[in-house]
Amino acid sequence: MTGQTPLISARNLGAVFDVSKPWLNRLFAMEAKQFLTAVDSVDFDIPKGKTFALVGESGSGKSTIGRMIVGLQKPSSGQVLIDGDDFFAITDVKRQMAMRRRIQMIFQSPYASLNPRWRVKHIIGEPIKAFDLMPAADIDGRVNELLDQVGLAMSDGEKFPHEFSGGQRQRIAIARALASNPEFIVCDEPTSALDVSVQSQVLNLMKDLQRDLGLTYLFISHDLSVIRYMADEIGVLYLGRLVEVADRDTLFDNPRHPYTRMLMDAAPRVDAFGRTADTVAGEIPDPINKPTGCSFHPRCHLAVDLCKKERPEVREFGAERARVACHLCETEAELA
Ligand SMILES: Nc1ncnc2c1ncn2[C@@H]1O[C@H](COP(=O)(O)OP(=O)(O)O)[C@@H](O)[C@H]1O
Ligand SMILES: [Mg+2]
Repeated sequence: MTGQTPLISARNLGAVFDVSKPWLNRLFAMEAKQFLTAVDSVDFDIPKGKTFALVGESGSGKSTIGRMIVGLQKPSSGQVLIDGDDFFAITDVKRQMAMRRRIQMIFQSPYASLNPRWRVKHIIGEPIKAFDLMPAADIDGRVNELLDQVGLAMSDGEKFPHEFSGGQRQRIAIARALASNPEFIVCDEPTSALDVSVQSQVLNLMKDLQRDLGLTYLFISHDLSVIRYMADEIGVLYLGRLVEVADRDTLFDNPRHPYTRMLMDAAPRVDAFGRTADTVAGEIPDPINKPTGCSFHPRCHLAVDLCKKERPEVREFGAERARVACHLCETEAELA
């Protein structure tokens, strides 16, 4: 990691949801309130122009982190720093707007995220109006430029979202995200709903745009082959905690956490995009009643007594400075 201030930092980020039953039901059943910790003490930095990827099974907290990073959801604890500024501490509305312009998000489903009643040029131009970026007369020209940038035709601007295929709709979503000239984009499973061949085209487009526009990405996926293609650095999430953070080659050449190894063993070995990983062994525990100690211990065939009792802290390992939270990695390092 470089010495400069990262563009985006998550500092001790946490998200807790109140998942209690309604008050009256609780009263009759004499039940206490229930909380679900979706994200727990998450730390990472993303240097400008780089891609940090989050990988983990469904329910591990990936989308919740994405939503907090773009400012759609207030963290229960911790901070989101943008260029060193605490996003949620900004109270001045103008500064808030200026900050929001710099950050955009692309979602998994290009069906749900585009207004079906609007023409594409209207959809793409909307952020330009919302952020008041240029005179109304110039917007059409800018929209055409954006359509071209994502590989669509000018005439596509006149059409409605339902007239496009899944891959093309995701291109529209990307054009809209680019409309505010953002520096940073959170991509939440952007290609998971697409066919394999279409998926690689969209990923390639995103890589080209990153290079040409100097974009910084937080890239979320459950698919290791997609992550490997896109990421500079990778964070592995398990039940809301980062269990391993390392640069891409370190993670794939030398996965340290037993969960990371398990994910990799479950992934198909063929080097193709979009192969859905076979299900990983064991079941994901109930996030409301997480296992004690290391929450991965019930699925870990290496777990010892300590793993059930004490939660492992994140430590750095090796010359590559991989960050891993695992008692066994610590023991291994001491023995080496
Ligand atoms: N608004 C919410 N209210 C209650 N629980 C939520 C809410 N959003 C997410 N969760 C829970 O938080 C956990 C993480 O969810 P999510 O961030 O969507 O995971 P992922 O994107 O990795 O699948 C899950 O257990 C999910 O059920
Ligand atoms: Mg998700």
